[in-house]
Amino acid sequence: MCGIFGYCGRRKAAPILVEGLRHLEYRGYDSFGIAVANDGITVQKKQGKISLGGADLSGIKGTMGIGHTRWATHGVPNDQNAHPHLDCPGKIAVVHNGIIENYAALKRELQDRGHTFCSETDTEVIPHLLEEAFQGDLAAAVEKVIPRLEGSYALLVVAAGCPEMVAARKRSPLVLGVGDRAFLAASDVTPILEHTERVVYLEDGDVASVSTKGIVIRQGEANVERPVQRIDWSLAEVKKGGFPHYMQKEIYEQPEVFSATIRTLRDEETPRMLEGIQGVTLVACGTSYHAALLCRYLIEEHCGIPARVELASEFKYYTLPGGDLVVGVSQSGETADTLAAIEKARMHNHPTLAITNVLGSTITRLADHTLYMRAGPEISVAATKSFIAELAVFFHLVDRLSGGKLEPALGSGHLAIGEALLQDLSPAVELCMGARSMFFVGRGPFYPLALEGALKMKEISYIHAEGYAAGEIKHGPFALLSPETPVVALCPPGPAFPAMFSNIKEMKARGTPMVVIGAGGNQELEEVSDVFIPLPGGGLVSHILASTTLLQLLAYHTAVALGRDVDQPRNLAKSVTVE
Ligand code: G6P
Repeated sequence: MCGIFGYCGRRKAAPILVEGLRHLEYRGYDSFGIAVANDGITVQKKQGKISLGGADLSGIKGTMGIGHTRWATHGVPNDQNAHPHLDCPGKIAVVHNGIIENYAALKRELQDRGHTFCSETDTEVIPHLLEEAFQGDLAAAVEKVIPRLEGSYALLVVAAGCPEMVAARKRSPLVLGVGDRAFLAASDVTPILEHTERVVYLEDGDVASVSTKGIVIRQGEANVERPVQRIDWSLAEVKKGGFPHYMQKEIYEQPEVFSATIRTLRDEETPRMLEGIQGVTLVACGTSYHAALLCRYLIEEHCGIPARVELASEFKYYTLPGGDLVVGVSQSGETADTLAAIEKARMHNHPTLAITNVLGSTITRLADHTLYMRAGPEISVAATKSFIAELAVFFHLVDRLSGGKLEPALGSGHLAIGEALLQDLSPAVELCMGARSMFFVGRGPFYPLALEGALKMKEISYIHAEGYAAGEIKHGPFALLSPETPVVALCPPGPAFPAMFSNIKEMKARGTPMVVIGAGGNQELEEVSDVFIPLPGGGLVSHILASTTLLQLLAYHTAVALGRDVDQPRNLAKSVTVE
């Protein structure tokens, strides 16, 4: 949610900043802007996406600057509300990711002292506070101002005539890049990879002063050392590599992502905390929540461990079950609600485990133990390969805790995904693209997949889509079924098949167009379907993986056919770092 990027080196900063922001645009794309420091401060900012152009960089001189790509929280997306924001004389520029919760009181106070505001943002209080605090030492001014800020922030600050860029964080991600004669700062590593693989993750409360001489990090009064870590993501992974969209590229990477995650986890020891657990509570948001819901079925059935799954945003309103291991599942490791859930679990002395894709992300520092999925960078806002990687982690854990019950299927999961990638979905796409509203239904572990299929469809195609437990659909949604309301039904072989088959016939009897995903060879099932999509693979694990892939592709191709902006759907952001 909002991306910030800073550069301090020997090259012209402006084009580097804009290129860096392109990599961060998936965090928010309402507007963008840069500020380059020289004798003064030169600012360019604009509503809309970077790709729409509008940034005239030709005259901007200076080798240090900061940039921002926005997901609006305070004030509509327009040029004035775009970051960077400046103090009254235009000598200090700030970009910010997060929310300053007490900004209204601070703004009144500053206005009473004569400061003039140009935007509706919460951020703008920061340059004005800095204006009052700055006496030649920018880092000292930032240190003086941040105790006044309530809420969350990752900040980058530059000032006219000042040789350093200052970075500070509290509950919003910020990472520094240590390049060859160039230093960088960013919300995540994607824009840094272009310059270096060596990064430093800042901790909450850190204030870093970055100049061409190096980085000095302070926490309160003291200088602190933070380790330099090497990122194993490659630059190629953050590029589209010939695919028209990141989403398609990421779906096609899934066979390798699944295998890589299983392979690496196999070589790791099972975390001690899992030995003899009596109960587990999984907390997550969005797609990660759906992966957790699916895990519940497997963990209860195969391991006999009671599992509970909660939306992280609701977790704060519940009483924690005594003794449970609390598992936070988050691709980015930065989702505010999931972090808050882990914090709450810790406060109540529960053991905590993080499952994430991002090395050094905040969740890894909060939880007692972390398991990494190996999805590589996921750029498209709609999560795809990270969902498959989360499933891989869960399958692995269930396998370990059940004494190897899933093992035979784990080695061949990638094949089922690969086969699903080859399916022609055009008849299904044709049926879906005309719909204003749709349902996705399934039973057992395929119910969370129905939720995920509906989420993918609605977020990128903008067709209203609801996921439902097939058995529940008669309890209300039946009233909405009509020839204009297609239903996608997941009907794999297994114990739920007879009930699912009956549900499909009941819906068909209401004239509902049915897209059915099921194993080939059942003539009756194929006949009742308007479009039948044969499900590759044999067995639960491969059916789950193949169904996931088919649902992702169905949403993707429908969105493309409708001309949607697949990778950056309207109003969404990949990383939701505010509550
Ligand atoms: C956002 C993204 C979703 C993602 C969710 C949770 O809403 O658009 O794709 O599933 O956040 O993200 P996390 O990083 O915690 O898995």
